[in-house]
Amino acid sequence: MSIPAHLATADASSASTSTTSHTGAGLRVSALAHWVEPIAPTMPILSVGERFLHADCASWLSLPVIDNRKPVGSISRYELMQRVYIKPFGRELHGKRPISGMMHAQPLVLAADATIDDASRMIAAGIRQPIMEDFIVVDDKGHYLGAGKVLDVLGAMESRLAQRSMELEQAYRKLKSSQAQLIQSEKMASLGQMVAGIAHEINTPLGYVRNNVEMTQVALGDMSGLIGSYQSVVDALVAGADEPEFARRVAQLEGKRAGFDIGALDDLRALLEDTVFRVGQIAELVGNLKDFSRLDQARMERIDVHKLIESALKIGGNLLRKKNIQIVRQFGKVPPIQCSPAQINQVLLNLITNATQAIEHAQGRITLRTHVVGHFALIAVEDNGKGIAPQHLEHIFEPFFTTKPIGQGTGLGLSICFQIVEQHRGRIRAASAPGAGTRFLIALPMQASKNVDESP
Ligand SMILES: Nc1ncnc2c1ncn2[C@@H]1O[C@H](COP(=O)(O)OP(=O)(O)OP(=O)(O)O)[C@@H](O)[C@H]1O
Ligand SMILES: [Mg+2]
Repeated sequence: MSIPAHLATADASSASTSTTSHTGAGLRVSALAHWVEPIAPTMPILSVGERFLHADCASWLSLPVIDNRKPVGSISRYELMQRVYIKPFGRELHGKRPISGMMHAQPLVLAADATIDDASRMIAAGIRQPIMEDFIVVDDKGHYLGAGKVLDVLGAMESRLAQRSMELEQAYRKLKSSQAQLIQSEKMASLGQMVAGIAHEINTPLGYVRNNVEMTQVALGDMSGLIGSYQSVVDALVAGADEPEFARRVAQLEGKRAGFDIGALDDLRALLEDTVFRVGQIAELVGNLKDFSRLDQARMERIDVHKLIESALKIGGNLLRKKNIQIVRQFGKVPPIQCSPAQINQVLLNLITNATQAIEHAQGRITLRTHVVGHFALIAVEDNGKGIAPQHLEHIFEPFFTTKPIGQGTGLGLSICFQIVEQHRGRIRAASAPGAGTRFLIALPMQASKNVDESP
């Protein structure tokens, strides 16, 4: 039996092992082809029957009938049995006739370079039921190359599907990790925003403190000069200095006293009080910074939502003041809720930032409302900004959706809010009247049911 060189690999391994070793998308029908000695159309039916009994034909359902190197039909073992061998006098009646009279004249023929996907489609379309034949493989000129088994195609398809699902799984994992990275970068962005806000906030009291300390330094210098002059007069008295010397020292003291504003002592007290107050402001801001710097910790805590709102307002305070936006608080009686404070802070900051950015007129107002409904704490953030067009409203929670100019908005703010609220098993909704304003409503369960290990 001669084996064409290009089929040697496929033929050398068994069909099942050859399919598992070719799982790539580029697998072709040629990889499933085996050399099977073809039958000539003139071969007598009895000889074909004997061929089926050969050991090398034992695993084949059908044999290819080839004329002039091209497939003209196939003969199935099952049909031969049915029509010749189990019929009374079948062998005597048909045995000497050529197989061409009994073969199936539309055999399944597949091109060697067809993909496994194409092959499975063609087999599905052309195969007879019940399955009683194998397929014939031809080259690009239609010349016979060998035969293949339908089951091998199924095996190859199965491996391919397994491979695909593995690829999909990997793609899914990559997507998840890049999403996590995006969330991380959004955290970094809000961290940056927060740091800039805090730096600005700290700068104001720091300026007062510097000024007060400088003024205190000057006042202390004047005072120490005055005390020195008193000391020198007292020294002259104790030492019994002569008249002119005593008079000189007294004159010097008079000069210092005339130059010294006694009211400065009161000023100094006020300056020091103010300094203590400003340092307190700085300490408070640093405290807020510490709260926010735990953005990546999903630690659950029982906390007053109003504290979270105030904290977010403080961080966004810089921009709010710049736009002269009025803050209206309509706080209800809300018991402390169990949540991840850093994350809910981030949600509130994103909403307040969006509201601030949406206000383009001078009468800006943001209303923060809280109340309890059932087991949920409700927080509403409402602005009188430009509103959201109806065609945009349904997309605002999608990652990367932004109407802001390129480079200004990432479009991640609200999608992160959505994720955080979802992870807290809460709900977030938006309603908007274009030109009049927007309201975001967050409902958070008062008892935590959030999985602490979930990101972000
Ligand atoms: N209060 C609001 N008023 C009007 N439009 C809003 C408001 N909040 C969100 N939007 C709209 O929803 C879009 C998406 O908001 P999101 O916070 O997700 O991204 P962004 O603000 O555009 O970008 P980033 O938050 O990264 O700066 C915004 O571009 C804006 O069109
Ligand atoms: Mg935003």
